[in-house]
Amino acid sequence: MSALPIYLDHAATTPVLPEVTAEITRALEEDFGNPSSRHAVGLRAEERIQAARSLIARQAGASQPSQVIFTSGGTEANALAMLALARKNRTGRIIVSAIEHPSVRNTAALLESTGIGVETVPATAGGWIEPERVAGMTRPDTFLVAVMHVNNETGIEQPVKEIARLVKRRAPRCRVLVDAVQSFTSLPTTLGGMGADLITASAHKVHGPKGVGCLVAAADLHLPPLWGGGDQEGGRRPGTENVPGIVGFARAVELANERGDPERLRDSSRRLLEGIVRCRPEAYAIGDQGRRVPQILAVAVPGVPTEALVNLLEARGLCASSGAACHSRRSLRSHVLEALEIPPDHGVIRLSLSHTTTDEDTTRAVQILEEALPQL
Ligand SMILES: Cc1ncc(COP(=O)(O)O)c(C=O)c1O
Repeated sequence: MSALPIYLDHAATTPVLPEVTAEITRALEEDFGNPSSRHAVGLRAEERIQAARSLIARQAGASQPSQVIFTSGGTEANALAMLALARKNRTGRIIVSAIEHPSVRNTAALLESTGIGVETVPATAGGWIEPERVAGMTRPDTFLVAVMHVNNETGIEQPVKEIARLVKRRAPRCRVLVDAVQSFTSLPTTLGGMGADLITASAHKVHGPKGVGCLVAAADLHLPPLWGGGDQEGGRRPGTENVPGIVGFARAVELANERGDPERLRDSSRRLLEGIVRCRPEAYAIGDQGRRVPQILAVAVPGVPTEALVNLLEARGLCASSGAACHSRRSLRSHVLEALEIPPDHGVIRLSLSHTTTDEDTTRAVQILEEALPQL
């Protein structure tokens, strides 16, 4: 039997931890009631959801659990935030950064087609959004600014707090949406700490199950429903709740909070970069490295075709990606690399780690990179 591949694609998704699987199984077997039912079986499921809601609320710095709206993941959470806010405001303008996830960019395009003004703020060559630039674009009728916390392709952390501060100085009623899908549990992600009115997260990026996530809204922000149904999630996201997914998400967050410091990840990502540069001295890490989180490393290798590199690594037992999962299958050039003006003939590989990445995994990955790169 061949050895399992080394998995360095945690920004795409993470393995579900056994403790999380156990919690999900328990919810499936024991807490199968409909949380809206008023009998004991339903109430038990409702209690499990409320416990999960309180935990996620604490993580997001929300004073009331009702500020948490569970969704089917990060995509829906971003879309829900933007569409509900647009419904509330009806007219006006929004600003989105050039490096947002497609769930934000493409929802912005949908809004544009309904008459909302959409402006895109460019990124610096270092992969981050300048607060002054966003502030300069903000007008009195700008009702939403969306800038993610950590970019999923480069790992560059965005100065969201400063962006929010400057934006609110110009347009006090403007709301700030921070997509915290890549930072939830690994960095502080509270509403107050980030200056955000809306934050989004996804369970499968934090060793939880796929198909569940959340939108957390500021206490003074009342979002209208986008579709009809029951009064689940305060009527803002009707439909019978995904009880196993929600309790699995909460358990994953709880476990993440028990983990230690990211020093080991920093060391692993340094070893990976050094391995690549040893074979290809012209290779470079993408973005301002002083702003990069340790778990995501994107490296450009001039003159090496991205697809050939990713395929060769995969054949040798290293699962990595060329950027966002949504681009890699279609092999389109990513909008993030374009925004950072990475030349098209520079191949790009994203190596993303988690606490489940062992030192042996890193050693083996460096060996594979050192064997593969000279062949290209
Ligand atoms: C930054 C960011 N936002 C949103 C999403 C979408 O999350 P989900 O896969 O839960 O829909 C992703 C997933 O790749 C992401 O990286």
